[in-house]
Amino acid sequence: MTTTVPSATAASPTADHDALIDRLPPDFRFGAATSAFQIEGATAEDGRTPSIWDTFCRVPGAVDNGDDGDIACDHYHRMPEDVALLAGLGLDTYRFSVSWSRVQPHGRGPVNPAGIGFYDRLVDELLARGVTPWLTLYHWDLPQDLQDAGGWPARDTAYRFADYAELVHDRLGDRVEHWTTLNEPFCSAVLGHVEGVHAPGGRSLADGVHALHHLHLGHGLAVQRLRSAARRPLDLAVTHLLGTSRPATDTPADREAARRADALGFRFYLDPILRGSYPRDLVDDLAVHGIEIPVRDGDLETIAAPIDTLGVNYYRSMRTSGVDESGVTHDAHGIPVTRNLPHGGLPVTGLGWEVMPHDLTELLLRVSRDYPGTPMVITENGAAYDDHPDAHGFVDDTARTAYLAAHLAAVSQARLHGADVRGYFAWSLLDNFEWAYGYAKRFGLVRVDYTTQTRTPKRSALWLRDTALRVRGASASA
Ligand code: FCB
Repeated sequence: MTTTVPSATAASPTADHDALIDRLPPDFRFGAATSAFQIEGATAEDGRTPSIWDTFCRVPGAVDNGDDGDIACDHYHRMPEDVALLAGLGLDTYRFSVSWSRVQPHGRGPVNPAGIGFYDRLVDELLARGVTPWLTLYHWDLPQDLQDAGGWPARDTAYRFADYAELVHDRLGDRVEHWTTLNEPFCSAVLGHVEGVHAPGGRSLADGVHALHHLHLGHGLAVQRLRSAARRPLDLAVTHLLGTSRPATDTPADREAARRADALGFRFYLDPILRGSYPRDLVDDLAVHGIEIPVRDGDLETIAAPIDTLGVNYYRSMRTSGVDESGVTHDAHGIPVTRNLPHGGLPVTGLGWEVMPHDLTELLLRVSRDYPGTPMVITENGAAYDDHPDAHGFVDDTARTAYLAAHLAAVSQARLHGADVRGYFAWSLLDNFEWAYGYAKRFGLVRVDYTTQTRTPKRSALWLRDTALRVRGASASA
């Protein structure tokens, strides 16, 4: 067995990728993912109230080109067509998210029949076509009214989330088995509250830390509620964005910075959920900033309510330095420098993200080693590239295809070394609203012409379809 995953520098999938991919088992899940705000549009229809992303899009300069989610892929009106497309691509699982303010306007109170009706029809449509629904309750679109009441930095939001989870489960739990509470709490907490580049646009480390604790708490409360309300066994999950943190060089300052980055960017997410504690070194690092995690009695037990699957989203990794551009290791307030840097010399995607499939293998093996016993699914992986459609709208996206092949091979490699990974969902089914980058950055397996809303599968979609078929067929006859 080889131990290195072939790089994605090749323009197309290589024989080495295929050989690894062919070792996946016949019941390995192949899916595609989307999220509500990124594709649905219809933001003011059927009783939906604004989310923090509707508000953020109106802030001048917040989103490239002033783009917003008002129409997006018009999926709200084209859902049956999109489900048919997905099924036609031979994908067995569809990961989508529910818009909280569509099903529970204002974030509290009774269900909105028209809003939940959309997801009710979506689930039925998927099941009718033999596609398994994989439902995410929260993909960043907090109802604006809850933001006005304090948002995730306020503890009450965790309880509102648990109520909402139960309300959605009450209507869909008879048909949906796979439930993911939250998508990437890192982005909600850090991009949204510390770096200010995502909704709600905050810039405070303390708010980010409070938000993350309450996201964890909301997750745990929702798991408990769903588990006790369930009328049949459920597969309960949370999805985290994970990467690796390597020191930029072997100096003590860089090694210590990598440790800090690992505590703040990796263990802060997995430890409370899978171990029932916050890392000691993280607590000490936050104390240097004068920040305490607002833990109350019983919180960690709630947060560590057992889950069945860990969703892993992977795009890229960085290396970490403890020295800033001018060679200084501490800022004027005595806070140690922690700086993420690219590795350099690697191929990059259209977002400038370095392509590092080997790190996906590494991180899956690390999770298996450090947090044994939780099966994983890759709930997102994919790449934005500068697509060039031909006269028929077809995109011959060999670079994206190679990216997907290299990462799927990396998953297979991890499995061969013992990681329990059960599925791979490409991000994304459709080109869509890529948050602060707007519509210019395209991640889809399927091209969307935003003027006509025409959908055209790209080469990568056809490759994934053929690969899924081959794995099922090849493995079935093996
Ligand atoms: C992930 C998000 C997803 C999409 C991809 C590119 O962080 O979960 O919505 O934006 O990145």
